[in-house]
Amino acid sequence: MKILVINGPNLNMLGIREPDIYGSRNYSGLCSLIESHAAENNIEVKIFQSNHEGAIVDEIQSALNNFDGIVINPAAYTHTSVAILDALKAVSLPAVEVHISDVSKREDFRQISYAGMACEKSYIGLGFDGYLRAIDYLVEKYA
Ligand code: DQA
Repeated sequence: MKILVINGPNLNMLGIREPDIYGSRNYSGLCSLIESHAAENNIEVKIFQSNHEGAIVDEIQSALNNFDGIVINPAAYTHTSVAILDALKAVSLPAVEVHISDVSKREDFRQISYAGMACEKSYIGLGFDGYLRAIDYLVEKYA
């Protein structure tokens, strides 16, 4: 099984950005955690991060016929991007949404998730563990 993990804007700043909300571990720590978990489960994983909406749309499109599922934390684009929602719908791959923080307890503008409308499942507020749970969900359902 091949899973594409997509991270949106400012997630490359983990460890530096708002550690009270996102914790003190950095982005490369997140990538190592995901890579070890994938290896333990005998699955292939590609991790992609971009601060640019169009680059994320391009990456989702390129997953078609190349990956079996998508784990996505669109970060701030969660709450604004119909383009990312449409791309997820276009490729029609099983997708799971992840948010490190508990967006349900944060500002009103974070209460809408466009990408989430194209996702089967969401893991919210579980820190880095949410990514591992999302991978487990796809493996259990589709591997
Ligand atoms: C986030 C939550 C978003 O609201 C925010 O814009 C982010 C990160 C999270 O993982 O908790 O950048 O997606």
